[in-house]
Amino acid sequence: YPLKHPEHEDWSFAGPFGTYDRGQLQRGLKVYRQVCSACHSLDLVAFRTLTDLGYSEAQVKALAAEYEIEAGPDDDGNMYMRPGIPSDYFPAPFENPEQAAASNNGAAPPDLSLMAKARGITRGFPTFIFDMFTQYQEGGPDYIHALLTGYEDPPEGENVPVGSYYNPYFANAAALAMAPPLSEGIVAYDDGAPETVDQYAKDISAFLMWTAEPKLEARKQLGLTVMVFLVILTALVYLTKKSVYASKR
Ligand code: HEM
Repeated sequence: YPLKHPEHEDWSFAGPFGTYDRGQLQRGLKVYRQVCSACHSLDLVAFRTLTDLGYSEAQVKALAAEYEIEAGPDDDGNMYMRPGIPSDYFPAPFENPEQAAASNNGAAPPDLSLMAKARGITRGFPTFIFDMFTQYQEGGPDYIHALLTGYEDPPEGENVPVGSYYNPYFANAAALAMAPPLSEGIVAYDDGAPETVDQYAKDISAFLMWTAEPKLEARKQLGLTVMVFLVILTALVYLTKKSVYASKR
């Protein structure tokens, strides 16, 4: 079957001046909570970090309290639960990978915390230096967006196993164990953003970029400062060289 390459999307966090769009991250969180979290865990993300998305501490507290967190077994060995607090992490929808796989035709839904980096592309020296200006850093969100919007009918004669779906962006196109999770209007937005599959896919991809690289903005700012510093230093070193060797002529 013909595999497809993800198209490049316009991300607010692309390029040396890139920043996250808070509104988009909040919408992405909503998509995760209402759709993806039915199957996918987000083990590495603590509720407290959601202040990055523009929420107040009170809002984060209220959001955390909507979750039930395992608080350990009681004397009889039964697990008892308590409401979440900001220092807790998103609870997984399944007890363990075996249970996750059993409810999904044998394929466990992977944790999404680092997915945007895991499916991204990193190139070695020297290309990574120029990737500051290229689309390679956004390979992960491009892929997630393409995957979520890329389901299609299998080509003539292609055999798709029961419980699998055809998606030419997935490495094993004819056997993706995830049913199309998004459909138009499935999540209600309150900021006027379109409630389309394409918009949902963009928002969740941006959100997953944030979960994978929450310090992206600080990294880009520092990188830019370092570059400006290096340019000035280069000029100074050059002028120093000129003045040191000036008398030798
Ligand atoms: C795999 C994203 C919702 C079940 C994946 C992968 C991603 C992803 C990026 C990895 C694909 C790869 O390995 O390259 C999402 C997002 C969702 C979502 C962003 C919400 C919008 C769901 C839901 C279910 C589900 C609701 C269950 C009903 C699975 C399964 C796999 C998977 C079983 C493993 C597929 C395989 O290896 O064949 N998902 N997913 N996903 N997802 Fe989801």
